[in-house]
Amino acid sequence: MQASLAKRLDKLQDLPAMPNTLVMVLDSVSDPDVSIKNIEKILENDPMLATKVLRMANSPYYGAANRVNSIARAILVLGFNEIRNLVIGLSLTGMFSGDLGFEEFNSKTIWLHSLGVAKVCKYLSEHIKDVDPEDMFTAGLIHDLGRFIMAIDFTEELKEMFEMKRSLSIPLSEAEERYGITHSELGAYLAQKWGLSDMLKDVLRYHHAPQNAGPYMLQVATVFLADQLCQKIKLGWDLDGEKNSRLLVPKCLGIDGKIIQDVANRLKHEKSDIENQWGNIIPD
Ligand SMILES: [Fe+2]
Ligand SMILES: [Fe+2]
Repeated sequence: MQASLAKRLDKLQDLPAMPNTLVMVLDSVSDPDVSIKNIEKILENDPMLATKVLRMANSPYYGAANRVNSIARAILVLGFNEIRNLVIGLSLTGMFSGDLGFEEFNSKTIWLHSLGVAKVCKYLSEHIKDVDPEDMFTAGLIHDLGRFIMAIDFTEELKEMFEMKRSLSIPLSEAEERYGITHSELGAYLAQKWGLSDMLKDVLRYHHAPQNAGPYMLQVATVFLADQLCQKIKLGWDLDGEKNSRLLVPKCLGIDGKIIQDVANRLKHEKSDIENQWGNIIPD
């Protein structure tokens, strides 16, 4: 990162603190009993979030036979991992929301894309050795957090990048590279500030250039592939894809075309559910 950019970021007053919910959820992975208690505690203290979780648990997507009207029952019906992912998703989407002042995209498009990437990361990870599907859900969900900092704190610069994207017909991520400020750097800065794990930091920093990732190359490459699949399927944000570009599949993942096709079909199948289910809950 350029020294001038780092200085500017250090001076930003309004960078958000990591939500408590995320701290507690990320902290409580090793012991399932503690984890369930933590989730219950989080939701007891945040009735708005609890209401949203119950609303989701009762959506047609989960197809619960009977009405889910308590958190304990939601954990039973949906399973702990699904509830954990819902809690992270709902607390983050509630934190970064609203109109960002750009006609090309809004918070909802970024989140629908991120939720798609999270799900695809999880599905791909089921076929990749040594990569944890639940960790990868979180990684996919937060990989583009830098987009929010870009839109909120680098508004004028982003307008110029969109101009560059239009005049040169290039993906936005390439315009960022040429301009010299990328959402990957901004996201990595936030990840550092929040004290996220090295894996998550690397995902935010290298998800558009997995070849530069170090020990977490597999995780970064998984997000890189999931990102492209979601652009192709046009779930939410699709400003980084190039028309008719070929899918780039990192060799290190060791997965074949059949698996990728199956995962893509699974996402296509879930696309409208994700759009309806989350689209109604994420504020415009
Ligand atoms: Fe990105
Ligand atoms: Fe992305």
